[in-house]
Amino acid sequence: MPSLSVYGAQWGDEGKGKIIDRLAAGADYVVRYQGGANAGHTVVVGEEKYVLHLIPSGILHPGKVNVVGNGVAIDPLKLLDEVSGLRERGVAVDGTNLRLSAGAHVIFSHHRRIDQLGERWLGDGKIGTTGRGIGPAYGDKARRCGLRVSDLLDAERCRDRLGAALAEKNAFIQAVHGEEPMELETELDRYISIGSRLEEFVCDTGALVRAAYRAGKQVLFEGAQGVMLDIDLGTYPYVTSSNTGPNGIPSGAAFPVGQVDQVVGIAKAYCTRVGEGPFPTEDHGAEGEAIRKAGNEFGATTGRPRRCGWFDAVAVRYATECHGTNGLVLTNLDVLSGFESLKVGVAYELDGQVFDEYPAHLPSLEGLRPQLETLPGWHENIEQARTWDDLPERARAYVEWLEERIRIPIVMLSVGPERDQVIPRGLSL
Ligand code: GDP
Ligand code: IMO
Ligand code: MG
Repeated sequence: MPSLSVYGAQWGDEGKGKIIDRLAAGADYVVRYQGGANAGHTVVVGEEKYVLHLIPSGILHPGKVNVVGNGVAIDPLKLLDEVSGLRERGVAVDGTNLRLSAGAHVIFSHHRRIDQLGERWLGDGKIGTTGRGIGPAYGDKARRCGLRVSDLLDAERCRDRLGAALAEKNAFIQAVHGEEPMELETELDRYISIGSRLEEFVCDTGALVRAAYRAGKQVLFEGAQGVMLDIDLGTYPYVTSSNTGPNGIPSGAAFPVGQVDQVVGIAKAYCTRVGEGPFPTEDHGAEGEAIRKAGNEFGATTGRPRRCGWFDAVAVRYATECHGTNGLVLTNLDVLSGFESLKVGVAYELDGQVFDEYPAHLPSLEGLRPQLETLPGWHENIEQARTWDDLPERARAYVEWLEERIRIPIVMLSVGPERDQVIPRGLSL
């Protein structure tokens, strides 16, 4: 299959970085098409751990082209930090293996600041954003007053457009938040000088990827966040500001939807969420705490403890159905070793009404109680399992039971953070 979309089917942090890195071995291009440095994709190679925010998770494989598409919100300061961080660790990053879209919107310091001020303003009603300026930057894109990477490459144009944007943002920061304005000349100098440092990476990435596909190259699309954080399909307003699944590819990578040949979702064998918002199968007790400890569930971008709970078959089935998913990769199965029993959310309940399917018509999932089924757990450590037959019978039964619930095949299992800790079940590039 020449092109494959891999996306998160829960609330993010499903292990996309690990799986993309693994699949990247067989790919030619790895393409990000949405999100920004709110993402934190962990890749573990031997003793080395890398957390990638804006750079696609194929960068550790020499010879692959890593593309940041026009739908990504690029914070150039974070991007350049990430490039130099990788170079310091001996990873080659240059204009041959990293390409940035000229049409991607830029996240400036004022977006980050307004993100954080907005959260403060909301108080208890905050979203719990990563503070990376994502919402304000996508907001400016929709309001048609954002700047794109191509604007940074033209000093005069950048001065005009950024100057105009900052005048408005400063009025807003002062009038609404009562805070000090941004220093205009400092900001202009900072971003005008950045353009020349980005130049070697910039091109029309849409044309690049379409031509690669035509030439028979293998293209891997790397989703960030997850479907339940999708601005249209997720638990609005507790979502991010982009389309996180293959629904983001045509607009965010300028790549035809009909040429996305295979669609694969990723979900953990349990569930986590960072930030605010409903999470029906969250476990507030000792078992949630035990999952956090066993899975070391702390945010890769912000370090916040992740909220933990059980696999939500209703939400994952909804996510995978929305995207016509061919198969699911189930990660972190090893984390469940040692639990006497495992719970899985199979329906929601509200005031005596039972929802077997995801109730997207409700204003919120807040207040829904999960109906949980209990399955027997297993005690064996499965980190060394590499084939289906290596797994204890109860682990196999758990996977098969989930498969029935979500109605698509589980095409790969992950049993640890490292590259080789997978059990293939049919997925290949
Ligand atoms: P992403 O945002 O979807 O790429 O996921 P993150 O990197 O934010 O979080 C996933 C975490 O789980 C990282 O610390 C990974 O190293 C780790 N991880 C990935 N797959 C597995 C797995 O199968 N088992 C365990 N124990 N950890 C995993
Ligand atoms: P990866 O790609 C988990 C969450 C934030 C917050 C909401 C909005 O690593 O899976 P934003 O900063 O995007 O405006 O925050 O979305 N969020 C993530 N949660 N993984 C992520 O990315 C996330 N990116 C954003 O915690 O609840
Ligand atoms: Mg993450």
